[in-house]
Amino acid sequence: MTRRSVVAQLGAITALLSIGCGASAFAGPAGREIERLISRIDELSGSLRGAVISVEDWRAGIDELLSQVPETDLMKGIDFERLAARIGFAELGVSTARIDFGLDEQRTLHFLPKLFAVNTGRSIIPHGHANMVSAHLPLTGAFRLRQYDQVSRDERALTVRPTADRVIRAGDLSSIGEDDDNVHWFIAQEPSYTFDVIVSGLDDGREQTFEIFNLDMEAAEPTANGLLNVPRMTVSEALRKYG
Ligand SMILES: [Fe+2]
Repeated sequence: MTRRSVVAQLGAITALLSIGCGASAFAGPAGREIERLISRIDELSGSLRGAVISVEDWRAGIDELLSQVPETDLMKGIDFERLAARIGFAELGVSTARIDFGLDEQRTLHFLPKLFAVNTGRSIIPHGHANMVSAHLPLTGAFRLRQYDQVSRDERALTVRPTADRVIRAGDLSSIGEDDDNVHWFIAQEPSYTFDVIVSGLDDGREQTFEIFNLDMEAAEPTANGLLNVPRMTVSEALRKYG
């Protein structure tokens, strides 16, 4: 399925859906644009959870949808100033807030929308995932982003393949797949914020809704075939060393 067709196909259905929000959250033309965006992301994420589309299609679709909306409009739509003032910056790692978009409590989304705040030099610590995917859109600031495929995993370590090492700024979306680019590590180069789209519970048969594996990247050992064997670590260890 091409990128264009993922969103185009969903559009026909999305037009029939009502997001059921309070009027104040999506007032004005920019508000309606955000309402449409959230509806589309919700449908794309529901389609992923229902196995109607692949993870690759979901990643491409999110990229397409978020590229159509200016970050400044998105920031208005999530009430950025109020949320950012509320969560501040963490001394280590990140501070986060769930975004409610003013939706009524009966309306549940197929994805978890969050705001991440990361101060200069602080990081979203290096980690891999299971049973979830996510996409991260910088709204302001800049990050050094590194990503890796998750090749295999055991109780003590993940084996990974480097896929990206780049600086990202407002509008540069990055996402993870179930294996492809599944490990990520963001270091803020200035006070920075991201809008995050998180979809967990991809495999309903699994006991855990999702899992996170924090990684000691400095202790990575190269393997003979060009991969890295990276020890797992606890959240508190990882925050002390990388947060
Ligand atoms: Fe993550």
